[in-house]
Amino acid sequence: MMTHNPVLETDPAMKILAIHGSPRTIRSGTRRLTGFVLEGAADAGADTEMIDLCDFRVTPCTACEGCTLTGTCVYDDDVPALVARMKEADGIVFASPVYIDNVTGQMKIFFDRLADAIHYQLLTGKYGCGVATTYDSGGTEVVAYLEHVLNYLGVISVGGIGIATQGDAGAIDRAEPEARALGRKLAGAIRHGFPDPKQEAEIAGNRAYFKSIVEANRDFRTSEYEEWKRKGWLD
Ligand SMILES: Cc1cc2nc3c(=O)[nH]c(=O)nc-3n(C[C@H](O)[C@H](O)[C@H](O)COP(=O)(O)O)c2cc1C
Repeated sequence: MMTHNPVLETDPAMKILAIHGSPRTIRSGTRRLTGFVLEGAADAGADTEMIDLCDFRVTPCTACEGCTLTGTCVYDDDVPALVARMKEADGIVFASPVYIDNVTGQMKIFFDRLADAIHYQLLTGKYGCGVATTYDSGGTEVVAYLEHVLNYLGVISVGGIGIATQGDAGAIDRAEPEARALGRKLAGAIRHGFPDPKQEAEIAGNRAYFKSIVEANRDFRTSEYEEWKRKGWLD
């Protein structure tokens, strides 16, 4: 006999975390645009959260290889907590203004600290998107870079939005519908999947490369090695 199971009919809680890298924090246009993305995701049923990277202690990587040896950075700052929050999320939004045709220094310093999370593919299976604003140049390239970093982490990107304001503050508000649609698309990907053979192939290629690191470090990163084995990634 078929029984009614209300639990199966309820969408599980969906968490989307935006990490925003403008030093202008609440005055930031990128933050405002990202807020629209999150509102779109919230309309589609997601729990959303925005992190201003500037509020956190993120020490630049010094290439000491401490994380490679132990899985823990030598710096006791906020990055492990930020990584934990990303691991708890189903969706990740990376957002940055364009600074000299790239992400802000704050964002890049954070990304450099994700090297170990990238090598061990800690965010595999999540979905994400990129958000950028600029006066004029670099918006498309920075969105592509943000999506590239998501892929490096094992995250499939559903796309991005890059707005060149040319000094017109209204440009960001006019992009609200597009930004909300991106947020809904991200929530939809988390709920229903988002097949993308090109990104899947890129992520698989990265993982094949990182496999050599996981195998080389197996004697001192044993639990991570066992985790990869359990996932069937070492076959
Ligand atoms: C240090 C710095 C570098 C910038 N570099 C560029 C640039 O290369 N090209 C550009 O068009 N705008 C550039 N801008 C302008 C910002 O990208 C633009 O004002 C952006 O929308 C600011 O976003 P925010 O309000 O979120 O901080 C730069 C601004 C700053 C402060």
